[in-house]
Formats: sequence, C-alpha cells, structure tokens
Amino acid sequence: MTSSAVLGLPRADALYARALERLPGGNTRTTVFAEPRPPYAATGSGCRLTDVDGHVVLDLNNNYTSLIHGHAHPAIVAAAAAAIGEGSAFGLPTRYEVDMAEMLSKRVAIGEKWRFTNSGTEAVMMAIRAARAVTGRDIVVRFDGCYHGTSEPVALGSRGVSTGTLADVLVVRRGNAEEFVETLERHGDRIAAVLIDAMPHRPGLVPVATDHLQLVRRETRSRNIIMILDEVITFRLASGGLHSVYGVEPDLISLGKIIGGGLPVGAIGGPARIMNVFDPRSPEALSHGGTFSANPVSMRAGLAALSLFGSAEIERINALGDRLRDGLNQHGWPTNGRGSLLRIDLSAAPDAWWRLYGAGIFISPSGLACISTPMDAAVVDEVLAAFERVGR
Ligand SMILES: Cc1ncc(COP(=O)(O)O)c(C=O)c1O
Repeated sequence: MTSSAVLGLPRADALYARALERLPGGNTRTTVFAEPRPPYAATGSGCRLTDVDGHVVLDLNNNYTSLIHGHAHPAIVAAAAAAIGEGSAFGLPTRYEVDMAEMLSKRVAIGEKWRFTNSGTEAVMMAIRAARAVTGRDIVVRFDGCYHGTSEPVALGSRGVSTGTLADVLVVRRGNAEEFVETLERHGDRIAAVLIDAMPHRPGLVPVATDHLQLVRRETRSRNIIMILDEVITFRLASGGLHSVYGVEPDLISLGKIIGGGLPVGAIGGPARIMNVFDPRSPEALSHGGTFSANPVSMRAGLAALSLFGSAEIERINALGDRLRDGLNQHGWPTNGRGSLLRIDLSAAPDAWWRLYGAGIFISPSGLACISTPMDAAVVDEVLAAFERVGR
C-alpha cells in the first residue's frame, strides 16, 4: 500500500491504536480489515455511510450485501424499535418467527419448513448436521475456494480444523464435472451432502453453469445425497432465490443477510421430510437451540425488509446492477456477477480500494459490491464517474 493512497484519518488512527491494545491486530472481523487500518464507521443513512473522520461515502458494501434497503430505512427502524420496546428476546417463541416462516414459504418453493439461526454460518452448519442425521452418513462434498461461513466443515484452509473433520470433507474443483462424478462414484454411499453456491463470490462471483447445477442435482438425487444450496448472498437476486432462476430444486437451502433487515440472522429451509429431523416432539430429534435464534428484533426487521422487497424492486435493482456492471466493463474495470451483485476486479489497479474510498466509493476490499434499494440511475452514474476519475 503506498502511503499516498491511504487517507489521513486521525480519528480512525486513534481508535485503531486503542483497538491494538485489546483486539488481536486491532481486529475482530477479518473481513473488514484493510491495511494499514480500516476507516471506522460512524453513521449510515440510505445508501451513504459517514466515517468517524467525517468522510461520506456511497456504500456499495452494504455490510457485505446484507443491507438490501441501505442504512436506517424508516420502516425497518420502526419495526426494530417496536420490537425492542416490547421486549428484545424471550425464552419463548413469538408470533414473528411464524410470520417469517410463512413469508419465506411463499417465496421459496422447497421451503415447506424453516429453522432460524443467528447467522449464515450457523444455517450452513445446521444444514450439514441435518443432512448427516437424515442420511446416517458423514462425508460432505464442497467446491474449492467457496465461502460458506466459518464452521469447521466449510473452513477455508485447515488451521484449527480437526483432522477428523478434514477427513470427512471432500473438496472438488469448481465446475469439474468429471472429478465431481468420480468423487460421488467412489464415496457416494458415505456422502451425506453436497454443498454448493450457484454464484460463489470468493472465486469471482461467476454464476455456475446451468448444466453443472443440473448435474449436481441429478447425481445427488440418484444417490440419496442431500443437495444443500447456499443462498446466503444470492437470495436477493430473485423472489424465490437464485435457484428458482435455474429451475433446479435443492433439498435444503441456507439463507442469511437480507432476511434480517440488517440484524443478525440465518435460516435453513426445506421439505418436511428433511426438516422434521428438528421436530422436538420426536425422541430422535436433532437438537438446535440458540439463545438469540429467531429473536423478535431480527424477525420483525426482516419481515419489514422483505415486505418492501417484492419482484418489482428486485427487478429494478437487478437492472441497476446490470447498468453498473456494463458501465464498469466499458470503463476498463472487469466486473462479474449478476443483477444487483457485482464483483469488480481491482487487481490491476494499485491501491484501488483506498483511491476509491477517497473518491467517495466504498466496496469490499475483494471487489464485492451490491446495489441497495435507495440507489437509482443517478447513483449508478455517480459511481461510474468516480471509477473514471480514479482510473486504473
Ligand atoms: C455464501 C455464504 N454463505 C455463508 C456465509 C456466512 O454467513 P454469516 O457471515 O452470516 O455467518 C456467507 C457470508 O458472507 C456467505 O457469503
């Protein structure tokens, strides 16, 4: 990082100096670290964020794609405030988890039953455990370089992961049909689940080929392997999630991000024949608790967010994403993705992330960016003008 690219942020410096004393590397969330220290957020409103040093930036990070309506949408603030005012969590269920399950069932064809968690990580973790419980098998197959949160079976890298877990996870090269089929042929009767994201962001946000997703469906179904589709990021792309666009039905789906309206959330959905493994009335039930699972603040914020995000809004922001992607590609910034999700290749532009931040554009350091509903065509043009100013 050249020092000229890094903004002078004296308040962030002071906070980071304190953070270094008490947090390893001054950090408690690896994904939000930026060398030599990140800006610190102060407030957000609509599609803009103000940092503690007073810089106002257009927020295309949206807390890693979770803030579908940007910051502090009045309807979501009202829903969350009402929930907190009436008691933020109880050692009892509330009507809001029922409302949320019903709302998700209307959108997701396979979503007959639901289970809520506090994060996408937990949703994926519990989906894997459900698959193991239902099939009586241990092995999980996943694809290289794809991020599914931080639970053991999906950890990227092996540090801190037990050798037993590593032995029960088979990592196949993305899009390699031959290797995938061979893996299933060799280990099929010991494989509980195949975990796939139809547009994984870490390896570049390129949609999986339709015939590959169909192959995964065919091969898992014929071997009674549970196909888990991770839609934690991609659910925003269509009312029924990205898999509805492919016309491929998985056995289980994991959700998170936008369904919490900006608060912590995750969900596992699927048909009763699988999801009933969680039914506490059964002596065989798979136990799943969570002090804050299905907490009414997340549920009510999420209900408000989803009720403002119907097909027309989804299509509108997907079209804005297409406009931004086309413009960036034309301006010499190679950009992948689909609809409102974008991945901008920053690799050829030295210090691009800091220079963009300085020009008023906040994306994730990996180049992941997204459109939120407060944005319009004028905002997209503002982003394009900033990229042009920054240059490559
Ligand atoms: C595809 C995917 N799955 C799972 C997760 C984990 O979700 P969370 O960060 O809510 O634990 C993420 C997070 O970015 C994700 O992108």
